[in-house]
Amino acid sequence: MRNESTKLWGGRFAAEPEAVFLDYSQSIDADARMAAEDIWGSEAHVLMLGVQGILTDEEVRAILRCLEEARAHVEAGTLALDPADEDIHMNLEKFVIRGAGAEFGGKLHTARSRNDQVVTDSRLHLRNRLLDVLEALAGLQEALLARAAGQERTVMPGYTHTQHAQPISVAFWLTGHVAALMRDGQRLLAAFDRADACPLGACALAGTSFPTDRALTARLLGFARVEAHALDAVGARDVYLEALSALAILHAHLSRMSEELVLFSTYEFGMVELADALTSGSSIMPQKKNPCLAELARSRTGEMYGCLIQGLTMMKALISGYNRDIQQDKPPLWAGLDLAEQTLGAVAAMVQTMELRTARMSELAGANFATATELANWLVSDRGLPFRRCHEIVGSLVRRLIEERKTLGDARRVAQLLAELGVKAKVAELDFLDPLKCLERQRSLGSTGPSETLQLHVVLVQALHDGRREAASRRRRIARARGRTARAVKHVLRGGSLADCKL
Ligand code: ARG
Repeated sequence: MRNESTKLWGGRFAAEPEAVFLDYSQSIDADARMAAEDIWGSEAHVLMLGVQGILTDEEVRAILRCLEEARAHVEAGTLALDPADEDIHMNLEKFVIRGAGAEFGGKLHTARSRNDQVVTDSRLHLRNRLLDVLEALAGLQEALLARAAGQERTVMPGYTHTQHAQPISVAFWLTGHVAALMRDGQRLLAAFDRADACPLGACALAGTSFPTDRALTARLLGFARVEAHALDAVGARDVYLEALSALAILHAHLSRMSEELVLFSTYEFGMVELADALTSGSSIMPQKKNPCLAELARSRTGEMYGCLIQGLTMMKALISGYNRDIQQDKPPLWAGLDLAEQTLGAVAAMVQTMELRTARMSELAGANFATATELANWLVSDRGLPFRRCHEIVGSLVRRLIEERKTLGDARRVAQLLAELGVKAKVAELDFLDPLKCLERQRSLGSTGPSETLQLHVVLVQALHDGRREAASRRRRIARARGRTARAVKHVLRGGSLADCKL
């Protein structure tokens, strides 16, 4: 029986779809970026069908020839995608059927469904994009580490509650961000590994009666393993939610860094000066220099959270198997990946070019009693007093200094006040009231003390190197699999048989 419909699924329908339905339901925009992956998936599938004797070599060859043609179009940017054909899968299948004829082309979809196809394509694409984001992340970490190098003795105020707390070093501040971003890298890599299972061959939901070899398609697509359970493979999207959660947490970190750049570059703080080329002026106030890039990076965190919430809400209460709802998995996933990569680039650019105003940092580090904790510590270690008692002594000393409009920098007055409070101390003994001296005394594991911070720097440089190596080995595995598929395709197109093809 001939199919009169323009749709590949048109047999049971008496009417063509209405424009309102097609417009609303097509997914071409989100699918377009998976064209190369859809072709690769089809190549792997059709090679497997040939190896398993489900299709003949001649049928496989005819289909592969058209897929190669489609690939050339994708690479040249000339593949015409028709929204009336709903998605990338239908568009490419139709392309093959047009080129190879229904007799041959119509066999491409044997033992396959769009349900396993779409999640295979999107996982292939996600894997690459996660590696791109990881590269951008490593770029930012490298920038932070470069700016931190040699700054272990450059003092600045450390804050709790956005109030002066204790002096820290610039290297300590910057490497703190690197440490947080390291966990982001681990989460992204874990999301990659979760996505690294091949759903192809699950078919619509129940598997198939054809003797398929799912391990072979997984190998040809460079997946680490097969996503075995067919019903789960087509209907679950937690893998994408995991990627989006990792991206959302990463963006939270980027927003914290951006906020610091906004705050620290104010006139009031004046510790950082952002590059002119990364800031903008006001249309009315001639003197203004606005940290717009940092503000936007801060603001776009909401967009990223939106992507995660969109995905979570989409999945809620869906019954087992594929539901059309999950077509909407891709727009937030692509948007999240794109946004993370962009924001990482923007923040890295600011970090690379910002001026660190170290004189102002040092001035602020010494102000506002930031060395008070060290004075209390000294009373404990040098005078053997209980910490609570020392806390009280220093607290009342600070209150006196505030009343007198003096600071802890005035060591002579501090010594006098200590004497009044029952502690005799020489001015020379109180050198740690200087923020740099105070900094140098910190020595616990992971502290802001220069040698500890230097050690943290070394460990982070090594971790960055290891993370990059992990990502590179995954990229190589993907490239090897791509090469394996391409060689097999070439072999068959040259007239070779699948029986003597090494897969
Ligand atoms: N465009 C669809 C998506 O992105 C492909 C799967 C369609 N499956 C179906 N049974 N209609 O989810």
